[in-house]
Formats: sequence, structure tokens, C-alpha cells
Amino acid sequence: ITIPAPISDYFDNIHQQFSAMSTNQLILFALVNTPIIAIILNVLYQLLPQDKSKPPMVWHWIPVFGSAAAYGQNPIKFFFDCREKYGNVFSFILLGRRVTVALGPEGNNFVLGGKHTLLSAEDAYTHLTTPVFGKDVVYDCPNEMLMEQKKFVKFGLRADNFRAYVGMIEDEVVQFMNNDASFRIWPMNDINEWGTFDVLHAMSEITILTASRTLQGKEVRSQIDKSYAQVYADLDGGFTPLHWLLPNLPLESYRKRDAAHKKISDLYIDILRKRRENPSDEQEHDMIASLMNQKYRSGKILEDHEIAHIMIALLMAGQHTSSASGSWTLLHIADRPDIGEALYKEQVENFLQPDGTWRQMQYEDIKTLPVLDSVIRETLRMHPPIHSIMRKVREPIPVPRTLASPSEDGTYVVPKGDYVFSSAAVSQVDPRYWKNPMEWDPSRWIDPEGMAAQAYKQYDDENGAKVDFGFGLVSKGTESPYQPFGAGRHRCIGEQFAYLQLGTVITTLIRRLEFRLEGKFPAPDYNTLIVLPKKPRNIMYRRRKFD
Ligand code: HEM
Repeated sequence: ITIPAPISDYFDNIHQQFSAMSTNQLILFALVNTPIIAIILNVLYQLLPQDKSKPPMVWHWIPVFGSAAAYGQNPIKFFFDCREKYGNVFSFILLGRRVTVALGPEGNNFVLGGKHTLLSAEDAYTHLTTPVFGKDVVYDCPNEMLMEQKKFVKFGLRADNFRAYVGMIEDEVVQFMNNDASFRIWPMNDINEWGTFDVLHAMSEITILTASRTLQGKEVRSQIDKSYAQVYADLDGGFTPLHWLLPNLPLESYRKRDAAHKKISDLYIDILRKRRENPSDEQEHDMIASLMNQKYRSGKILEDHEIAHIMIALLMAGQHTSSASGSWTLLHIADRPDIGEALYKEQVENFLQPDGTWRQMQYEDIKTLPVLDSVIRETLRMHPPIHSIMRKVREPIPVPRTLASPSEDGTYVVPKGDYVFSSAAVSQVDPRYWKNPMEWDPSRWIDPEGMAAQAYKQYDDENGAKVDFGFGLVSKGTESPYQPFGAGRHRCIGEQFAYLQLGTVITTLIRRLEFRLEGKFPAPDYNTLIVLPKKPRNIMYRRRKFD
């Protein structure tokens, strides 16, 4: 075959240019051009006919990086946009990982109701959680062991302990208001002056103070104002999306994380040793007391390092979820003074005594306060702290055809090694299921026939079908569009504690203060593992006439 002269001249020319280059110039050329070539190949690959049995892949320009920017900036918008183009099930590339997303209540059911032998939470999370929590607990042990550990924790999260917590939480909130710089207006007893506080700062402090006073125990509480605060901050600094993506980098935050884990773990082990050496007659209501002397079904006792690591896991699981939820709740109350007044009225009607003092709220009371209950539920609907729940695929898994399919008779199969994501943050604001989903409207929960009540019935532990995964009967809930605490075998066990904590904190504040939003309602920040309000997020407060 004779190559036409212009083409052979062109290649001769290129050949001569390359021959004239030094080795360094060649390396530089390769470095500059490899990404361009990779982008071109990636684009060409996506234009080729795709394997019809795999869910559609979200179009992306840069290989490896994939759709990381769109997902990272606003995962909810990204998921809604992708659903428009590709349907309920689609895959995208997230920094070298293939992720398949399953949306809607059926998608939630596919991911959260799937068999744990096929869809593994430990494979998805362990590289983030084990350096922080420690060995042999949660995602660093077989799933059956985690179920038993959840049972041990649930034993501690029981009503008689909760009864003791309400007063402790109220006391911590009032102490915080008396001492924190941003609440300096409060002790001045002036009902006309407005003060202001950063809501996330206040709720983070209040959350750690109240959780340590109740669940973590008096020894931890006494350390909070001392060395513990910095060590906790270092540990927390190792619990970010970067640490999920790249678990071990030679960076300061990773070193601090590891050192902090060791210090906190030693602190708990020391507490356990001292409690064993000097048993007290006083009954402790904290989680350490509940976990001591627990045994696995096999007869193996829960060792001290396991108790220490479970305590760290509980601290991390409850801290940001509750402080974010408390912040969003207060922001909405400040934005809607009419709802703030309805909450206050509910308190007055139920707890204000003829002599003008407040009767203390009891654990049992919290469930009987419809305004408070619907304010918390509605906030968790619009702002579930965890926007993507993850599992890793251990064996290829077919997608139910009612959820999504490539054709009338075809089935998608999610390949082994993929991550699968479900997102209650999408189903909880999906206009297909909720009227005016972007409006914060607690009253939607009060209508017994409304969509919200139906969704809650499917989810609530008191109603509907129940399953025991090894930590007590829980509502199945995997198909509900409302599931801020997850569903299935990995469902949150901290739900009742979170309601108790949030309910007591909010009512303690609302009995004493009026709130207004300073400036615009803050947008959500998705750059952290938990969705937080962006700055500025200031709330103005004023002392009520009666406290
Ligand atoms: C699991 C949300 C508070 C302990 C979960 C899950 C969600 C969640 C969505 C499921 C994760 C998954 O399936 O991958 C929340 C929210 C909270 C909250 C919204 C507060 C508003 C707490 C608290 C504790 C806690 C206070 C501890 C006292 C746990 C535990 C699990 C869990 C132990 C089980 C993990 C598993 O089985 O894999 N939580 N949580 N959470 N949460 Fe919570």
C-alpha cells in the first residue's frame, strides 16, 4: 500500500521532531500531554456502545476525577439532575471509585434492605472509621459482632437512663448560657437587648457537654474543659471526606488523628480500671456502666479496649449529627418566630406552674408534645445530616426491574467492587412524594392523612413490620421516603437519645429566649461528612420576660 505523500511527510516531520528532543524534553512532553491523551481516550470510550447490563454512566470529561466536583459541591442537585437524564439508577466516577446510585424509596430499599453479605457497610466505611474508633468494633469486625455491639449499646439507651438525663441536659444548657461569651446578654437580665451567637458553635458545644454529662459519664465530662477538648478536635480532624477517600497520607491531620485516638482510648481504659478498682455504691446511668460486664453470645466478654472503642464510636456518631440537627432546628425557629411562639406556648401549657416556676420535663413528656415533635421531624426531613449512605458490592447484584431496567426484558447488574449510594436527602425532598418539599412546614406532620404521616408510619419503630437483626426489634422502614436515621440492619440506635437531647436543648432555650435570624437563611455546606449550615449563621436572641 502506498501512503499518500502529504500523510507520510506529516509523520516524517513528527518523527524528526521527536528524534531531535533530549530525554528531558521527551519526559516533559509526555507529562504535559498524557492528561490530554487520557481525556481524549476517556471521551472516546464513553462514545462507544456501552455494556447494557451496567447502569448508565454519568458523562464526565476527566478520567479518575469523574464527577467529583459536581457531587462534592451539591450532591442533592447532582442526584436530581442525574435522575432527569438517566433515571433512578446510574453510576458515576468519584476519584477513581465507581459509584452506583439508587434513588427513591425503592432505591433506599435496594441499598438498605439488601443482604449484608452482598452489600457491605464495613467494606465501605472501615478505612475511615477504624483509625478513629479503633480495632475490633463497628466496621472492624464481622457484621454479626456489630449487631451484638449495637445490642449492648441499646441496653444502655433505655428509658430509666433517659429519665435521669433530662435534668442533666437542662442543667448543662443553662450552665453554658451562663458561661459562654456569646450569651453575655443573658445573665444581664435585660429583656430589651438582643445578643447574637453563631449557631453551630453553640450547638456543637452544647452537644458535647450534654452527651458527655449523660452517655459518656462524669469522668469524661470533667475532662471536657481541659485536655480532652483539644484531643477530641484532633480526632475529629481525621474524620473528613478526604480521610474517606485517602485513608493514609503522611500529613499532620493523619498523625494527629492517630495520636488522639491513642490518648482518648487510654483515657477510657483508665476510667474502666479505676471504676473496677473502686466500685461505687451510686448507680451510674452512663454508657460505660452499661457496657461493663457485657458478653457476646459466644461467652467472650467485652474487653476494655472494645468498650473504649465503642465509646469513641458513639461520641463520633452522635456529635456532628446532633449538633447539625440542633443548628438547623434553631435556624428555622429563628426564621419563623410564629413557630417559636407555638413552641413556647406548648411549654407554658404543659409545664408552667401556678407559682410561675417551670415543672421539669420528663422523658415521657417529650413524645406528647406535638409542636416540638413536628419541628424536629420536619428539620430532619429537610436536613438529614447524612446525605449519602454507602455500601460496597461484594458480588454482582441485579437491580430490581421495578426500580430501573435498560429495556423491557433486560436487567441492570451492579458489578462487584462498586460502591452503592442511597440518599434519604433526595427522597425526603422529592416533589413526587412531598407537597412543597422545600418549604419548612412542621404542620405537615400533624395531618393524620397526609403524606408525612404515611411515610412516618412506614418508618416509626412503634408501627409497621418489624425485624430483629440482632439488636432488638426495629421497624423495617427501608422503603419509606423518610429515613433520616437510616433503615435496616445498620439503622441508627441513637434515634431516641437524639430526640431526647434535641428536645430538651430546644425547650430549655425556648423557655428562656426569643430568637430571630440575623441575615439570610444559610445555605448547606456539603464539604464535610455531615451537612452543616454555611457561615454566616448567626441567630439573635433576647431574654423572655419570664424564665
Ligand atoms: C447509624 C443518623 C445520632 C449511633 C446511623 C445511620 C444514620 C444515622 C443515617 C445509618 C448509617 C448507615 O446505614 O450507613 C443519625 C442522626 C442522628 C444520629 C440523624 C441525630 C440527629 C446518633 C447518636 C448515636 C448514634 C446520638 C449514639 C448515641 C449510631 C450507631 C449507628 C448509627 C451506633 C449504627 C451504625 C451501623 O449499624 O452501621 N445514624 N444518627 N447516632 N448511629 Fe446514628
